[in-house]
Amino acid sequence: MNIKKVCVIGGGLMGRQIALNTAIYPYEVTIFDANPAVLEDVAKWEDSYLAGRIAKGRMTEEQVAGIRSRFTICSTLEEACKDVDLVIEAIVERKDIKSMVFKQVDALVRPDTIIATNSSRMVSSTFKNDVSHPERLANLHYFNPALVMKLVEVVQGDHCSEETAQALYDFAANTGKDPVWMKKELDGFVANRILQAIYTEARWMVEQGYCTPQEVDIACEKGLNHPMGPFRLNDLTGLDLAYDILQRKYDESGEKPIGYDLIKSYYDKGWFGKKAGRGFYEYESK
Ligand code: NAI
Repeated sequence: MNIKKVCVIGGGLMGRQIALNTAIYPYEVTIFDANPAVLEDVAKWEDSYLAGRIAKGRMTEEQVAGIRSRFTICSTLEEACKDVDLVIEAIVERKDIKSMVFKQVDALVRPDTIIATNSSRMVSSTFKNDVSHPERLANLHYFNPALVMKLVEVVQGDHCSEETAQALYDFAANTGKDPVWMKKELDGFVANRILQAIYTEARWMVEQGYCTPQEVDIACEKGLNHPMGPFRLNDLTGLDLAYDILQRKYDESGEKPIGYDLIKSYYDKGWFGKKAGRGFYEYESK
């Protein structure tokens, strides 16, 4: 499976960066979004990002001209899917909408085109009935910001062939990433499961009064060499988001998750983290 031309669907936070990263390496890329205003924004963002790379001396004018020639913004899905070897779906995290898009894509691509989803939570088998060739369907999970973060997780479900997973692994490696290959589907994939385990343990110690959030962070940063402890990281990603996740777990299982009371006590005070000026730490600038 020789990937040469790639289509990215969704021009939001993730899609635009995945697409541009792909064009840099250098693959031919098309990008489509259902919202025309997003596509206009992608064009402006591409201009300013590439101009910035030249200004900082990170890219030459010639390199940028090459990237531009390989990066095509398309106003229809038909145009974006034409003759591509790989489709990367990076649209809104809604099962019904993704399912609809996979059916549309399936009708437009060649039978040998690989279809991948960048979903942060949904394993690709969720969509195996939406495509004619589930053996060419897998997760390809990037991290934010996708232009910078090196990890890409390839997740191979039972429906997915070894060749497809290998092609995605090679593609990720060829586009400057350090991929990992999960041979079985698992909710949360690798990195977010590890992170979740750290969060749970850290919150439990604080809830039980063994130590403060700041002490947990010192232990992780100074003893384990983590660049940031879990509470400092949670302040950055937002305690409102952390609360939403725990509340959903609580609603689904009926069992109060570890850390729920701790996070709720911050959430109720509006201490959402760095963006609110206060979380587990206080911040001068938001
Ligand atoms: P976003 O909200 O920035 O972008 C989603 C885009 O999808 C929007 O521009 C929207 O117009 C477009 N869209 C919606 N319906 C569409 C359709 N039918 N056809 C074409 N485009 C459509 O979302 P973001 O953050 O870029 O997330 C995209 C995917 O990436 C989600 O599945 C998310 O779970 C996943 N992800 C997000 C990460 C993050 O840190 N934000 C990290 C890793 C994965």
